[in-house]
Amino acid sequence: MGHLLDILKDQETIPVSPHWLWRFKYDFKYDGSSLQEHCGKLIDHTIENTGTGAALETGNAFSTAYNVEHQPHYWEIMQPFINHMQPYLHALWNHWDYGSGQPVPIRSWINTHKRSGMTMEHHHNGCPLVISAYLKHSTNSGYFQFRDPYEYHRWGSPGEPQLDLWKTVPVEEGDVLVFPGWLKHRTEPSQSDDDRVCLAIMYGGND
Ligand SMILES: [Fe+2]
Repeated sequence: MGHLLDILKDQETIPVSPHWLWRFKYDFKYDGSSLQEHCGKLIDHTIENTGTGAALETGNAFSTAYNVEHQPHYWEIMQPFINHMQPYLHALWNHWDYGSGQPVPIRSWINTHKRSGMTMEHHHNGCPLVISAYLKHSTNSGYFQFRDPYEYHRWGSPGEPQLDLWKTVPVEEGDVLVFPGWLKHRTEPSQSDDDRVCLAIMYGGND
């Protein structure tokens, strides 16, 4: 017996809004790399100076979000990735009708989650484009989740909105998620003894 939705598969869908969540792939070659060393030093510097307990991190979690002195998008080692993404982000900038400018990285940090570590629900206020890149991710590291942006618009429609309020996006190492800052998101808690390392880059417009 086919899936109930199969009957729709050959029918045309007409988008009523742009696609807001994108997945790209990039091989960071993180383990044992200079990039891993940079991230380790950044966490050490953050522990010594600003503390890694960002408000949204719970469990066994470390964030360099409060460290504005050292940010990954400043690193020379990060430039190949930033350059690789630029044409895609520029295209998304247009897809999202953001006007004639180009996206430029303005803030970045690293989140590291050990077992039980997670990032709670949040958005990135005023940020038109966000990158979440999984530098390190293994089985049981937990997935990315976003909150249904139509939550309030679905008022009055059949169904219980609370039951599918959160959509889970399975992610793996090398995944680069791109979305606007208003899309509320969180992580599942890590259930792995391996670190989950996520790079977050906030972009703004250059005009
Ligand atoms: Fe985020």
